[in-house]
Amino acid sequence: MKILNLGSLNIDRTYNVEHYAEAGETIQAKAYEEFCGGKGLNQSIALARAGAQVFHAGCVGPDGGILLDILAEAGVRTELIRESSEPSGHAVIQVNPEGQNKITIFGGANSDVTPAYIDEVLTYFGREDMLLLQNEISNVPYAIEKGKEKGMTVVFNPSPINSDLARCDLQKVDYLIVNEVEGRQLAGTDSQRVGSILEQLRIKYPRTVLVLTLGNRGSFYADGREAFYQGIFPAEAVDTTGAGDTFTGYFLAGIAAGRPPREALEHAAMASAISVGRRGAAPSIPDCDEVCLEIARRRNNSDLQ
Ligand code: RIB
Repeated sequence: MKILNLGSLNIDRTYNVEHYAEAGETIQAKAYEEFCGGKGLNQSIALARAGAQVFHAGCVGPDGGILLDILAEAGVRTELIRESSEPSGHAVIQVNPEGQNKITIFGGANSDVTPAYIDEVLTYFGREDMLLLQNEISNVPYAIEKGKEKGMTVVFNPSPINSDLARCDLQKVDYLIVNEVEGRQLAGTDSQRVGSILEQLRIKYPRTVLVLTLGNRGSFYADGREAFYQGIFPAEAVDTTGAGDTFTGYFLAGIAAGRPPREALEHAAMASAISVGRRGAAPSIPDCDEVCLEIARRRNNSDLQ
């Protein structure tokens, strides 16, 4: 199975701060670094490092060479990525001492993804392939429509939530990967209960496989046959940026390889636990040997206790 990830590519401008700036406050950052990021790029790198065959499509600006290079180094096919005259997308990220973040994105070239480009890219893929989308590029509703029309397995991680989401026909999505806030919004509920969010999502999207991520409280998987919970692997957080993308990429690589969902979710949880212990989004994503070794190591340790 080939995976087409039609997604964002960003330059992450990351500021380490003592606390997030309040309205009207000016603060001094303790450190500043630039990393490769974007939910699309991060997920492609996670997929490739997990061993999947992944083609990235999307747009970069004339400054996007560094984004193409990191994808290619990870083994992602980049020939479908188009250069736009707009600067590459970027993110301004504040990371606090607990490793948590606040992110503002600017679309830049990511907003140049047109229906004509989507049509062209899709000609290289068919019903046996997977289409992965997040919500940081233009024309996502069109991509969902066309991907389904081709019979591809459509996976949607509707992050970040914006007004485009209302135009997406989620009945055409085969896998929906959401966090609690997104899940609540799509389920149309105010409930704080995870069980009730999942239940409402199942009622609204009965054919869709659901993955609900809860940050440091773990994740849930539910399809028509089974539903289960996956806990987190404890980790010291340095920078959580891209941890969710690492999770998504690893989970889907497992599914694409035909692994049972439980195993795919366990690998996803371990990969994201490793990534939070490192700085940056894309550079923090581990490869599959490291993930498997760490799972084995922790199992051995718990057997010995
Ligand atoms: O999910 C993390 C990503 O969100 C960052 O890399 C940033 O670019 C934003 O897209």
